[in-house]
Amino acid sequence: MKDILPAHIGIIMDGNGRWAKMRGLPRIEGHRQGEESIMEAVRFCAAKGIRALSLFAFSTENWERPPEEVRFLVNMSRDVLRKRLEEFMELGVRLRHLGRRDRIPEKILAWFDLAAAATAGNRGLNLNINFNYGGRREILDASLRVAEAVRRGELSPDGIDENSLREFFYAPDLPDIDLLIRTAGEMRISNFMLWHRAKAEILVTPVLWPDFGWKELEDALEEYRRRKLDEKSDYHAPERDWS
Ligand code: IPE
Ligand code: IPE
Ligand code: MG
Repeated sequence: MKDILPAHIGIIMDGNGRWAKMRGLPRIEGHRQGEESIMEAVRFCAAKGIRALSLFAFSTENWERPPEEVRFLVNMSRDVLRKRLEEFMELGVRLRHLGRRDRIPEKILAWFDLAAAATAGNRGLNLNINFNYGGRREILDASLRVAEAVRRGELSPDGIDENSLREFFYAPDLPDIDLLIRTAGEMRISNFMLWHRAKAEILVTPVLWPDFGWKELEDALEEYRRRKLDEKSDYHAPERDWS
């Protein structure tokens, strides 16, 4: 039987601050530790043949955090790209930045662009780094581009439907999110990929992001399979304990 796999997994990576606090460490140590979980998720999805993985790394709201933390997160995105590009190439990963470019320093953007260009020909996992990303903002940006296309006479208002609107999103070829994971227990979407997650299975786990690894990803896929099988049958398995 063909394995039941999500085509697109989205992860709201949360709990780095709490992970650090529990250990009496500064918050940035939690972010630093979270890098290993990022790489583990990428390796896992590449190994399983998942088509796309979107990682929520920095929201449009996260600029409100203390300046030192913002600076750390911005620089960390560049360091991850710089350090891990070779591995992304080996894994066949195609990397893209999803989000607004404004407010991100030029030097950092240059790394996002370089990594995207270097991996553009890869045919494996589509890895999206949602940085300076807001779900409402993506829909607004798409709407503004639609309005502009209509104004230029390239698009008729009568011809706009869900499929044509999709063409104006940050990554038009990206499928819907099938499985949305949020770590650290919060039951929120926090403005992540609002359009793409419309029909997603949502899985919230109490595990903090720096502790979320291969085993937890296996469990997540198993839970996804179970839900999909339940959808197709009358049988309803008992709720699983996620803790
Ligand atoms: C998630 O961890 C990382 C980012 C949002 C960049 P947090 O920093 O939000 O960790 P908590 O929620 O304070 O534990
Ligand atoms: C969500 O985490 C955003 C990212 C993972 C980048 P936050 O910790 O910023 O979100 P809230 O504050 O819980 O909504
Ligand atoms: Mg948080």
